[in-house]
Amino acid sequence: MTAETTQQRPIGVFDSGIGGLSVLRALQAELPHERFVYVADSGYAPYGERGDPYVAARSHAITRHLQARHGIKALVVACNTATAAAIHEVRTQCPDLPLVGLEPAIKPAVALSRTRRIGVIGTRGTLTSSKFALLLGSLQSQADFVVQPCDGLAYAIEQSTEHAAPPLSEASKVRALCEQYLGAMGAFGTAEGCIDTLVLGCTHYVFAEEVLRALVGDGVRLVDTGEPVARQTRRLLEATGLLAAADDNAASPSHERVQLLTTGALPPLQAAAHRWLQLPVSCCSTAAVPTPGVLPMDQMPNRAPAQ
Ligand code: DGL
Repeated sequence: MTAETTQQRPIGVFDSGIGGLSVLRALQAELPHERFVYVADSGYAPYGERGDPYVAARSHAITRHLQARHGIKALVVACNTATAAAIHEVRTQCPDLPLVGLEPAIKPAVALSRTRRIGVIGTRGTLTSSKFALLLGSLQSQADFVVQPCDGLAYAIEQSTEHAAPPLSEASKVRALCEQYLGAMGAFGTAEGCIDTLVLGCTHYVFAEEVLRALVGDGVRLVDTGEPVARQTRRLLEATGLLAAADDNAASPSHERVQLLTTGALPPLQAAAHRWLQLPVSCCSTAAVPTPGVLPMDQMPNRAPAQ
């Protein structure tokens, strides 16, 4: 058996849960010869309303796990909240690990908007971070931004993924939260003074696109970060000489090049993988990635996050 080359090693990807699968989908399309190991930190989700120390502790634990157990050659933090809270520290602690993070795509949104009124939805963690404040500050002269934290929405989307057709109560929770938050942002549309571009600043929200689309109408652009991040990952791999060539992983069929791990229950990940990436259940397994002093969700006294 020949030894694995650096180029053949997998790319690590993680999110607080299934949201980052929207980024993985774009990564697979952009980088078809790569192998991926994805961690859904569903046992410790959501991140958005938990505060930076919690999110940083989880980000470090997952990064260490992906390096030690899977020998990743690069890491994509497929989570806006974790990028805002922890990417600088992860970069400092792992200076040799090529790293790509996510931020709400407000720069591309400025180029797309005609009314110059742009909506941004994301978690409270992302939208109140100093990283986002800096980004917003650099673009504020070019458009009006209506920024809306959506407490509980990522969690509701996470809960609704277990089933191909989510039970009415779960689907309607997602709908009710979308209605509530978009309703607070003002008018959407292409007329002057309306929000004509909505930035999905949380990877989970891509999976609520149908609901969001129905609420904002056809003329409004929904902008997410999957494709630009996939292109950035390609550039980084090329620059560091780590890009896999066509024959590097050719021996394994494409579904075997993806390994999906969850720190929570397996069925929701299996359902999401099947529903959104058409991947078989055999790609999915559980992983224990503890952090000292941090309890997984199912061991916490009150499981549901505050709304
Ligand atoms: N999907 C994550 C993001 O992009 C966070 C969701 C959460 O856990 O609150 O920010």
